[in-house]
Amino acid sequence: MRDLLNKIKTDVTERLAAVSSEDELEKLRVETLGKKGTLTQVLRGMGALSSEERPVIGQLANDIRSYIEKEMANKKEALAKSALENKLRAEKIDVTAPGTTVRVGKRHPIDQVEQTLCDIFTSMGFEIAEGPEVEYDTYNFQKLNIPENHPARDTQDTFYINERILLRSQTSPVQVRVMEKQRPPIRIISPGRVYRSDAVDATHSPVFHQLEGLVVDKGITMSDLKGMLTAFAKQMFGENTKIRFRPHHFPFTEPSAEVDVSCFVCGGKGCRVCKNEGWIEILGSGMVHPNVLRGCDIDPKIYSGFAFGMGIERIVMIKYAIDDMRLLYENDLRFLEQF
Ligand code: DAH
Repeated sequence: MRDLLNKIKTDVTERLAAVSSEDELEKLRVETLGKKGTLTQVLRGMGALSSEERPVIGQLANDIRSYIEKEMANKKEALAKSALENKLRAEKIDVTAPGTTVRVGKRHPIDQVEQTLCDIFTSMGFEIAEGPEVEYDTYNFQKLNIPENHPARDTQDTFYINERILLRSQTSPVQVRVMEKQRPPIRIISPGRVYRSDAVDATHSPVFHQLEGLVVDKGITMSDLKGMLTAFAKQMFGENTKIRFRPHHFPFTEPSAEVDVSCFVCGGKGCRVCKNEGWIEILGSGMVHPNVLRGCDIDPKIYSGFAFGMGIERIVMIKYAIDDMRLLYENDLRFLEQF
């Protein structure tokens, strides 16, 4: 029996040295010290020993048992320690390693210019009004003095939802929506998306953006329009910018004018940006037609107003000398990152 006990001791010591996980350790413990463990079984057989042998073997068995228990406890501690070390090593962070650059997005040039326009006009006291992109024919045309079969409809052919409802071809209907709800004094701008049934080319897109402006009050004249647009052009294109009015026709203004700015690149001498004209067309404008005022229940004998509308893409293209509008919609980052 003495031999058996010593063998258990050497076996367990050997196996313990090879144990590399807590699970293996627990398995060895059960196999040795558990109810059916090798050592437990030897201890159980002690009853068969003679009374002289029993205390001696008993003492030896107890010594071996506590030796094994102690060794197992040590092993357990060692395993826990190395597990922690492994974890610390694996999770080590090198704070000096170069970081991953986060790419920061920015606003699209159309959005940037729209924001600049809004800033300039709100600083002059304009409020921002919004209107629907899906609009009634009456607001997009009729109430703007463009009756059915009017030739102006041809140049603004758009997409129809049904006979009465369409995708607005201009931001001008917002003028009417505001005048129907608000009484003068009115001073609003309205930026937004508009639609036209146009084929895509370097200067056309079926979806684009406009910014509308409207001022209605007592005693508003064309010189107010001119003064305001001059101030706007200087802020947008530079202090030396001049503007010029060219007579034009819009059904909802009378008189109407197209407005050019002196070329901010060449100062008017003629260059690639102004196509050697010295001037660049930027918007349409005029005095609000009495029919439009009347339709909104505003008396043209008491009130007058001016309106203007510009294409935002056009302003972007002028400002950055972009010669093809499609570049603005292709979402090529190599292009967009330049702004
Ligand atoms: N709505 C016109 C267009 O899309 C632009 C315009 C011209 C707006 C004259 C106006 C204006 O408010 O007075 O061509």
